[in-house]
Order: sequence, then structure tokens, then C-alpha cells
Amino acid sequence: MSTQRVLTGITTTGTPHLGNFVGAIRPAIAASNDPAVESFLFLADYHALIKCQDPAQVRQSSKEIAATWLALGLDTERAVFYRQSDIPEIPELTWILCCNAAKGLMNRAHAYKAAVQANEEAGEDPDFGITMGLFSYPVLMAADILMFGAHQVPVGRDQIQHVEMARDIAQRFNHNFAPLFTLPEAVVEDHVAVLQGLDGRKMSKSYHNTIPLFLPEKQLRKAINKIKTNLLEPGEPKDADDSTVFQIWSAFASAQETARMRADFESGIAWGEAKRQLFELVNEQLAPARERYEALMSDPAHIEAVLKRGAERAREHSAPLLAQVRKAVGIAEMC
Ligand code: TRP
Repeated sequence: MSTQRVLTGITTTGTPHLGNFVGAIRPAIAASNDPAVESFLFLADYHALIKCQDPAQVRQSSKEIAATWLALGLDTERAVFYRQSDIPEIPELTWILCCNAAKGLMNRAHAYKAAVQANEEAGEDPDFGITMGLFSYPVLMAADILMFGAHQVPVGRDQIQHVEMARDIAQRFNHNFAPLFTLPEAVVEDHVAVLQGLDGRKMSKSYHNTIPLFLPEKQLRKAINKIKTNLLEPGEPKDADDSTVFQIWSAFASAQETARMRADFESGIAWGEAKRQLFELVNEQLAPARERYEALMSDPAHIEAVLKRGAERAREHSAPLLAQVRKAVGIAEMC
């Protein structure tokens, strides 16, 4: 079997949290170790500019996300790990694709439609606060994907439409000019857990209910103690399936330890005790990576060197493909 090229981007806004780890980072690192897979993983910092106009935050988040992946053991000799903005071929391809992507297709993008609808509901102009960046977001994402001939794109459900748009744009280009682009497919990992946050809703930066991945030990304990529970007393049986403490437990524990905790819930483990055990488990698993993370955060030159090396490797793919694309659309030297 030929190797599958798997590509995914991480928007550099915010600090990685336990939900990112369980839902995206851990499975992506595992997949990158599969010899049948060629992984392309990148920091989507141009995408970050769409959501965040605070330069310090974009910079800090890029550093934290890069340090996180490295600390968790991403093998950057195998996986190609780079920063979107280090690949000048991406914005160039974005423009060429913009000239071939139907505006009507972009009008249908969920994120854009939601923004328009929110404006209409608020009695604002439909375009209020909507930038060309937000509108063109799916074209930039198509360039990310098509630039590297990705077969598979692991994404959350909210991103499936964007991958389908990339496929659509590729088909149109291939038909009109030259068959240069691989048609990508979205892969939604249904078996990975969607972690619940402090309040029991999905753990997400937008709900302000996250537990950052590399909190110092004391703060991690505090955060875990804040997870919402019901008022059942010690000794009263508790419903494991209705508990965020149990849900997070099962994302970190072995099958056997999960079964044991389920039994403890049935026999009435106290919330304080369940949380203490959860802290011990998560802390023990993350402590070695947390140490590496802290070392990396105080050595940005090392992170930078790793990213630069990744960009070099990525450009071995993007530069020749972009040359073909330019030629196909008529951007060429005279002789
Ligand atoms: N838009 C994606 C997100 O917010 C991040 C992203 C940017 C991406 N470019 C990509 C994901 C290309 C997969 C492939 O999650």
C-alpha cells in the first residue's frame, strides 16, 4: 500500500487544553508514528489573524502550541512540522485559488453565514465586522491542503465543510487548467473523546471552561477541584455517565482503571476523593511532558530552529508544485 499523506493545521489562538490534547494532539501524534502515514502538521498562524488582532497573543499562542507538540513527543524527523507563514507558496496559491473559487461557494460557508445571521438578528448591517479574511478563510485552508497533496485531513465536525470546499476548488482547477491537485478527504475521528469542560459542556476556549494542558501542578489540582459535580454525599451511588470527573478520567485511564472507577462511583466514592484520584492520574501522565514544555518555552531559539527545518522540508513539496500551478495559469517568464 502506498503511504497516505495526512495533513492538519492548528490555529494559533489560545493555550492548548486537555480537550485539545485528547481530541486532536494525542491522536495526531499517534498517527504520525504509523509507517503507512506521512504527516504534515502546521501552525496555522495566518488563520489566527482572522480571529485575533492581538499580535502578542498570536505570537504567544504560536510558541505555546509549538512547544506543546514538541514536548508531547512529536517526532519532527518523521512528521513535517512547520509554520504556515514560513511557506510563502501558501499565500501565493491562495490568490490563484481565489481567482478560481466561486464566490457563491464561499457564501455558503457555515462560519460566514453564522456571522451574517448574528448581524441580522442584532439589526446590524449584514457585513458588520466581517473581514475579507473571514470570508476567504476556506480558500486559505484549501491552499494549505492542496499545496501538499494531502489525501486525508483529520478535522473536527465544524471543519468538514471546509475540506469539501477544498475538494471542490481542486476539482475545478484540475478541470480548467491541469490535473495538479490531489482531492482531499475529511476524516472525523469518531472514536476519540470530546472532553467535557469545568461546567460539563464541551471543553472549549469559547466557553471559558478549559483546563490548560500544562498548568503547574498546584493549579492543575485547583482546576480539577473546580469541575462541576452534583450534591450527592459520600456513600451515595453516583452516575458515572453523567459525570465530567468520570469522563475525563476515562480519557486518561486504562480500560481496567476505568472499570474500577465506574464501580467506585456505583459504590459511592466521595467527589473529593474522585477528584484527588483524577488529579493524580492526569498529573502523573503529563508531568514529564510538562517539564519538557517548560524547558522549551524558555528556549524559543530551539523551537524556531525546529520550525525552520520543518519549513525547509515543506517547501521541497510546495515550491515545485507552485511552479507547476503558476505555469498552468499563465504566470510565466517570457522566454
Ligand atoms: N481551520 C482549522 C481549524 O480552525 C485549522 C486549519 C487551517 C486547518 N488550515 C487547515 C485544518 C488545513 C486542516 C487543514 O481547526
